[in-house]
Parts: sequence; structure tokens; C-alpha cells
Amino acid sequence: MASPKTLISEEEIRTRVNELAAQISKDYSDVDEIVLIGVLKGSFIFLADLARRLSIPRHIEFIAVSSYEHGSVRSGAVRLVMDVRRPIEGKHVLIVEDIVDTGHTLHYLIDMLGSREPASIRTCTLLHKEHATEVDVDIDYLGFTIGDEWVVGYGLDFDEKDRTLPYIGVVTPD
Ligand code: PRP
Repeated sequence: MASPKTLISEEEIRTRVNELAAQISKDYSDVDEIVLIGVLKGSFIFLADLARRLSIPRHIEFIAVSSYEHGSVRSGAVRLVMDVRRPIEGKHVLIVEDIVDTGHTLHYLIDMLGSREPASIRTCTLLHKEHATEVDVDIDYLGFTIGDEWVVGYGLDFDEKDRTLPYIGVVTPD
């Protein structure tokens, strides 16, 4: 099968992740530590690159959620599958996503993690499918806005395929 067509190249991703890391490091320069919470599975590569380029103290956590589905259609309801390991009360939390599509996942996470009384909570996503939004969420740090296409690579999959492609590609499901 042919490789997915390139939407965002490795070079473009590298440049943008460097810019985001610089901005985040600047914005949090006066706090003791931030807690990066990566949303599994899709964020694992973005989180790894972003975290290594920050110049501020950081602690890494992961969380996993799953969407309830009716057949192949997502209902919008989100369920917690795996929680963070340490309390986040009083911490500066940055949720790290690979993509915001309908917005339901990030909305759920902001609400759920926000109720634990962190010192602050912000969001960072590599990609945003602007026109797919069903629920508005505040995105504090955004890599790229994309159209309504199925994207893979750099952590994102199509039926578990192509997660480890080094670039963001577009696939056309049959
Ligand atoms: C993707 C992505 C986000 C969520 C965004 O995860 O990683 O967490 O969907 O969609 P939403 O804005 O419509 O809620 P997915 O369910 O594909 O799981 P995965 O990250 O494990 O591949």
C-alpha cells in the first residue's frame, strides 16, 4: 500500500514543536514545575518531543480515555480508562493532546481535572480540526489547524496503523 500523502512534514512539525516549547517555557518561567498530562495513546510522540524541548522543570503523567460508541458513531460521552498517578491539587497542569476533533475529550478532561483544584490548567494540542467542533474548548497552545480529513502519523492512527510515521499524512478510508 502507498504511504499516506504528506499534510505536515517532519521539518514543519519540528519547527512548530520548538516554537510551542519556547512559548510554554516562557509562559511558565516563574513556576516551580509544570505537570504535563499526555492523553493516550495519540499524544505519546508529541509529548515526548515537546517535553524534551522545554527549558523549565516538568513532571510527566499520562491519562487514557475512551469514547462511548453507538455502532461506529461516537456519542460524545467520554469515559476514564486510566488516571494520572499523582494528585494534581495545587499543580500547574498542561494537558497535551495530539488532536482536538469534536472537542468532547478535551472538554471532559478540563472539567474532570479542573475539579481537582490544580493551581492552573491549560491545554496544548498539535492539531485542531476546527470545523468538526461540537463543543467549544479553550486551546492555549496550538500546533496546526487542519481540515476535516483523516490524519495519521506522529502518534495518530487509522485502525492502529501508521502511528509511527514521522510526518502527518492523510488517508482516505475505503
Ligand atoms: C483521539 C485523540 C483525542 C480524541 C479527540 O483519540 O487522541 O484524544 O480522539 O477527539 P474528540 O475531540 O472528538 O473528542 P482516539 O479516541 O482516536 O484514541 P487514541 O489516541 O488512543 O488513538
